[in-house]
Amino acid sequence: MTEQELFELAIGARGRSYAPYSEFTVGAALLCTDGTVFTGCNIENASYPMGMCAERTAIFKAVSEGKRSFRMIAVAGGPAGQSALSCCPPCGACRQVMREYADPDFIILFSDGEGDFAERTLADLLPDSFGPEALSGRKGFSH
Ligand code: THU
Repeated sequence: MTEQELFELAIGARGRSYAPYSEFTVGAALLCTDGTVFTGCNIENASYPMGMCAERTAIFKAVSEGKRSFRMIAVAGGPAGQSALSCCPPCGACRQVMREYADPDFIILFSDGEGDFAERTLADLLPDSFGPEALSGRKGFSH
């Protein structure tokens, strides 16, 4: 699975977005270390805070199927009804959920708004983060 292939799966998942309120559709594709892929899309709700981001949809699908070891996630988002993608880095809540399972070098690809995708690591996007090891006094990453 190449980065480009994972990004295209995220674009495909974007087509299943339910975003009638923001009219901003997002797709994600999560590559597990065993090679399996879980996709997700944003799913909004008339009670606005109940909506869910594409990234967390994909991660929760994977965890609920027994996967906890992840290599890379791709995210593609933009205005509904348009194939053109916006710059769509993951929101802070999604970064924190990634942090629960991922290594510092977990790769995050996101549409850059210029027809391509940007590549970052989780440590880039969430420095000095709080993770599971903090609860047991172990050293985390990004310190
Ligand atoms: N959204 C995502 O699904 N992922 C992101 O990385 C950014 C934002 C969704 C949430 C909401 O449904 C819509 O995009 C507008 O914020």
